[in-house]
Amino acid sequence: MHVKIKSSELYKQIYDLVLAKIDRKEWKEHEKLPSVRRMAEELNVNRLTVLRAYQLLKEHKKIYAKEKSGYFVQPEDPSFSLNESQLPEITDYPYSNLLSSIHQVVVDYQFSQALIDPNLLPNSYLSEYVKKVFTLYPKVLGTYSTVQGDEELRTALSDYFYKTHHFFAPIDELLITSGAQQAIDLVAKVLLRANDTVLVERPTYSSAIDIFRQYGARIIGIEIGQGGYDLNQLEHILKKDKPRFFYTNPTFNNPTGCTISALQRKQLVELAEKYQCVIVEDDPFRDIYFDKAPPFPIYSYDTDGYVIYIRSFSKYVSPGLRVAAVACRHPLMSHLITSKSLADNGTALINQKMFLHYFFSERMQIHLEKLRTALFLRKEVMRNELAATSWKWTDPSGGLNLWVELPEQISVEKLLDACLEQSISFVPGSICDPDQALRSWIRLSFSYANEIQLQTGMKKLMTVAETINSDSTYHQSG
Ligand SMILES: Cc1ncc(COP(=O)(O)O)c(C=O)c1O
Repeated sequence: MHVKIKSSELYKQIYDLVLAKIDRKEWKEHEKLPSVRRMAEELNVNRLTVLRAYQLLKEHKKIYAKEKSGYFVQPEDPSFSLNESQLPEITDYPYSNLLSSIHQVVVDYQFSQALIDPNLLPNSYLSEYVKKVFTLYPKVLGTYSTVQGDEELRTALSDYFYKTHHFFAPIDELLITSGAQQAIDLVAKVLLRANDTVLVERPTYSSAIDIFRQYGARIIGIEIGQGGYDLNQLEHILKKDKPRFFYTNPTFNNPTGCTISALQRKQLVELAEKYQCVIVEDDPFRDIYFDKAPPFPIYSYDTDGYVIYIRSFSKYVSPGLRVAAVACRHPLMSHLITSKSLADNGTALINQKMFLHYFFSERMQIHLEKLRTALFLRKEVMRNELAATSWKWTDPSGGLNLWVELPEQISVEKLLDACLEQSISFVPGSICDPDQALRSWIRLSFSYANEIQLQTGMKKLMTVAETINSDSTYHQSG
């Protein structure tokens, strides 16, 4: 199938260039494409740009990837060949999810995914709950969930939030979504018009930036650090830029691990009310703490309905179940429910029931305790390896990541390219920044790789960084 594109950005031009060569049969079916590195050198562009173009070509089934061998021209499927008049025209590329492009590269040392090692998840217990759910609800596969989510689950969550999160959300103010990612998307769909301003933390969860951009938002950032935000600056932004909402991840922020104090949470709600700015609180790491439990959610301070609370459970129950909950007041909730009905008519009922029975079991508490210890140990392993460098990093008291600042002379882009070639992945800090600066920072997730992989992979990463460092010193002095 041939795609007509209005191209403007660099990776789109590379996409076009490769596509043209394939269409002209200069590159034939199953022929290997130049490696990402070679293509980047030839075109004098960043390797991540080539990677983005290749990923998009892969998504559009123009090329395919073979593990550790590279990219190859996809043979045409005769059943899909359309003539020119049948060609769909796409107006532009969707904003690609940069994080997902990095995750798609298969590596031995996975430090890019803020995802828990599946070996640490209660897989065999979960399968017991599958059986239990079929016994309890024999018709579960023959039934739709309600759009808003299973009532039994919402009732249990309402009670859970009241007891553990210090807020009361009646069941009609709760919506079950297919992961927090869907919740962020639904909120953006409901609240954003093109050219609206969205305030985010700097740095923040990069996929949220990509979602807001897709809806045409102008994104501005407010720095988050160990002491939280500069509230004077925040107030100045609220007054001057009138953001439609402030998307925040205030508890073990991804990527920094910073947590906003209870006092700032309260002040934030006051500011939101004063300037009529909705706060979208994304809270997936709340239970992954290494010391003491974090402050209660911002939502618990809200009396006037300015906060939307998104609570994902993917991080420690099962990412595969795709269950998250949103709490907010009406009429906003009614709009979110409409939007959810248009998106998928409700999250799969079987997933909701499995989550319900597993999450509220005693076993869950035991699992959570063990998980905290295992993750703490993995964090320590990564920290110990980093201690051999002169790099700086924050030591988070929860979450899944270390946020690391490299010496200025090490190019993070070059490091990422070289690491991917050595089968190591991480997230470049710039993609977590709405200004795409923070070029000396990287996010290293310690939750996916096991302790041996952490030790070996970190040593390798540091060797690669040393090589790049000495190359740049050589070039500077030479
Ligand atoms: C801050 C933040 N929000 C949302 C998500 C997505 O969560 P889910 O898997 O529930 O869609 C992630 C995943 O890494 C995240 O870090």
